[in-house]
Amino acid sequence: MAGVTILAVESSCDDTSVAVVRDGYVLSNLIANQDIHRMYGGVVPELASRAHQANIVPVTDQAIKQAGIKIDEINAVAFTRGPGLLGSLLVGTSFAKGFALARNLPLIDVNHLQAHVLANFILEKGKEENIPQFPFLCLLVSGGHTKIIVLRDYLDMEVIGNTIDDAAGEAFDKCGKVMDFPYPAGPLIDKLAHEGDRNAFTFARPSIRGLDFSFSGLKTSFLYFLRDNLKENAGFIADRKADLCASLQKTIVNILMAKLIKASIQTGIRQVGIAGGVSANSGLREAIAAEGEKRGWKIYIPPVRYTTDNAAMIGITGYYKYLKNDFAGQDVIPLARI
Ligand code: KG4
Ligand code: ZN
Repeated sequence: MAGVTILAVESSCDDTSVAVVRDGYVLSNLIANQDIHRMYGGVVPELASRAHQANIVPVTDQAIKQAGIKIDEINAVAFTRGPGLLGSLLVGTSFAKGFALARNLPLIDVNHLQAHVLANFILEKGKEENIPQFPFLCLLVSGGHTKIIVLRDYLDMEVIGNTIDDAAGEAFDKCGKVMDFPYPAGPLIDKLAHEGDRNAFTFARPSIRGLDFSFSGLKTSFLYFLRDNLKENAGFIADRKADLCASLQKTIVNILMAKLIKASIQTGIRQVGIAGGVSANSGLREAIAAEGEKRGWKIYIPPVRYTTDNAAMIGITGYYKYLKNDFAGQDVIPLARI
């Protein structure tokens, strides 16, 4: 007899993703990206909602087929309730409600941020012991969030650090935009950083108290630095692109790591991980691995496919909520902010 099979839907921003997760293992995880936003230099909410509407049925169909299951093997439908863009969330929420109603299944509402953190708990055959123990200290870094989270149990999370302005992903994307990179710029900056000298330039690091972060100052100082240099040399960005990317990435990674180290010392937690789109960054992955070695941390880094927005992480969170009989009613509504 099959275990608990969750159909999971993620539509909080610009990726339509549907996954099938059984007992903590991913059977399928499909993602339809929306290239339309590239030409606007950022996500256009109205266009995102429309693309979700067009994608959600075919992506679900494909996810069920790829999982190799029959539709009546699904035990519950999990969906992202928020935070995110309201119009985008509405598409996934309405679809999940309709699916659950039609098939008489329980509905499970999932917090997108919790799901990013729980991506660290997705099981892989033969690597089952490779998941964190509690308490787990997690740096959640994405396009919308930069938080330090303590997870005491699957569904018990406390935010102990937060950005006071931009998210780390925004710092990558906005600085990339200044250099005329397509949106989102994070992956390209990461790629070019490999070819550059990370000590070529230094940018001011903010001094924010406690475990909080700030990235808006970095964006401004990067912009002014480029302006000054462009006055001298109109080809400055093109000439020093790789060095700019490497130095910028180093600064962002250092800001993140300084607070993560502080949080580990303060809480005494040495089970440490990263999550969210920016945790795909190779500089951050290297830095946390090196720091872990030095400080005796046990490090957890999800596979890249579970770091950016994906429905597998909604499915694993839905699975643990299912085990606790934590269900939503048909009257549940999406929340842009949680
Ligand atoms: O988690 P995510 O897919 O969506 C949000 O919930 O925000 O994160 C997207 C963010 C974007 O800002 C993107 O530039 C950044 O993650 N990102 C990266 C990398 N891959 C994605 N930033 C730096 N290096 C990367 N390799
Ligand atoms: Zn996300």
